[in-house]
Amino acid sequence: MRANHSDIGVSRHRAIAGLLACAAAFIVPAAPLHADEPFRLCADPTNLPFSSDSGSQPGFYVEIGQALAQALGRPIAYDWYKSYFGKRTVRVTLLGKQCDAMIGLPRSEDFMGPAVIFSSTVAKEGYALVAAKGEALGGIEALRGKRVAVQFASTPQNLLASRDDIQKVTVLSPEEGMQALDQGRADVAFIWGPVAGWLNKTSYNDRYQIELTEGEGLSWDAAIGFAKTSTELRDRVDAVLPQLRNTIGELAVKYGLPTGEPVRFGAVPAGTTTGTGTGAGVVQIANVVATETKGDAAAPGAEAAGAGKEIFNGTCAHCHGPDAIQSERKIDLRLLRHRYGDEMREKYWTTVHEGRPAKGMPAWKEVFTDDQFDSIFSFLLTVQSESND
Ligand code: HEC
Repeated sequence: MRANHSDIGVSRHRAIAGLLACAAAFIVPAAPLHADEPFRLCADPTNLPFSSDSGSQPGFYVEIGQALAQALGRPIAYDWYKSYFGKRTVRVTLLGKQCDAMIGLPRSEDFMGPAVIFSSTVAKEGYALVAAKGEALGGIEALRGKRVAVQFASTPQNLLASRDDIQKVTVLSPEEGMQALDQGRADVAFIWGPVAGWLNKTSYNDRYQIELTEGEGLSWDAAIGFAKTSTELRDRVDAVLPQLRNTIGELAVKYGLPTGEPVRFGAVPAGTTTGTGTGAGVVQIANVVATETKGDAAAPGAEAAGAGKEIFNGTCAHCHGPDAIQSERKIDLRLLRHRYGDEMREKYWTTVHEGRPAKGMPAWKEVFTDDQFDSIFSFLLTVQSESND
C-alpha cells in the first residue's frame, strides 16, 4: 500500500518535470505531496540510550527521529524491531519497506551498499575510556601500568592483547566493565561508549569521565540509513539536518553519550582474533553496532550465554561436543571466529537456520526462536579459540 502511494508520488513528480522540460528532475517535491504520510522510523524497543518504546525516555535516536519528523512536517510512526543481528534487521525492516529510516547505522558504502544509502553524519560512536575524573587518558601510553577492563572479544581487547605493560581485566559486558571500575578491580574501563555514558549517568552519579577513542574499529560515523530507492527522502533529511545540530548535541548530553574530541589510538594489529584485516573494519563495526549497543536484557552477556549453553548442551552437543569441546576440526564450533572472522555471525545465523542437510547439519529454524539462537551464539562467543588442541 505504502509503496504504491509513494510510487504514484514519484511518477507524478516525473510527469511535472517532463512538462517543464527542463533539468529539474532532481528537485525535491514540495512538502504537501507527502505531508500527511508518517515518517516511519525503525527502532529497537529496548536499546537505551539509543532507543526505547517508553514514551518518557525514548532515547537518542528516537528523539532525533521525532525532531526530524517535525522538521519535515510529517507525523512520526515506529516500527519496533529487536536489532540483534544488524544486517539481517536492516534487510527485514528498512529494505523490506516496513519503515523509511533507521538511525545510527555506520556511514559506509561497505555497510550493505549499494542497497542502503545514508544521510550525512549524525554522531560519532564507539569505544571509550572511562576513568575517575581528572585522570589523564591521552592514548595507549597513558594506560601503561594500569589495570584496564576490556570486553571479551572486543576491539579494545585485541588492541591491548600484545601489551605486557598493560594489565587486562576481561569482562563480558560494558556493565561489568563499569562494575570493575566501581569495585576497584580496574583503573580504567575501555568499553562501548554509549552504554558506559548511559550507566555513568543513570547508575553512577556522573562520577566518571568518558572519552571517545578513534582508530581502526574503535569508532565510526553514525548516520541515518535509507533504502536506495529513498534518495528523495534522504535528500530532504540532509537538507534539514543542519538546523538540528544543536538539538542533536543537547540530546547527546541528555543521554550521556561521550562528546568532545576523541583520543587517537594506533591500528589494531592484523591477524588478531576478530580477524580485523584490510577492509574488515567496517563489517566488524556493523557487528559491534548490532551486538554491543545492547545495554540491557538482550545483551550477549553472562545471562544469555548461560541460557545458550543449556540449549547447546541439550541439543547441539551430541554432534558438536559438550560445551562445544570437539576434537574434530570440521565441526569444532570454537573455531568459528578463527574460520570466519567478521563473517562469523552471518555464517552462524545462516547455518543454524537453514542447516547443511547434505552434510549432516540439520536446519533449526522451526525449532528455536531468534532469541534462543542469539543466546546460543552468546555462549559460542565465550568459547572461541585459535586452535582446537
Ligand atoms: C546431527 C548432528 C548435528 C547437530 C545435532 C547439530 N549440528 Fe551443527 N553441524 C553438524 C555438522 C556435521 C556440521 C558440518 C557441516 C559441514 O561440513 O559443512 C555442522 C555445522 C555447524 C555450524 C557451521 C560450522 C562451520 O564452521 O561452518 C554451526 C554454526 C553449527 N553446526 C551450529 C549448530 C548448533 C547451534 C546446533 C544446535 C542447535 C547444531 N549445530 C546441531 C552437525 C550437527
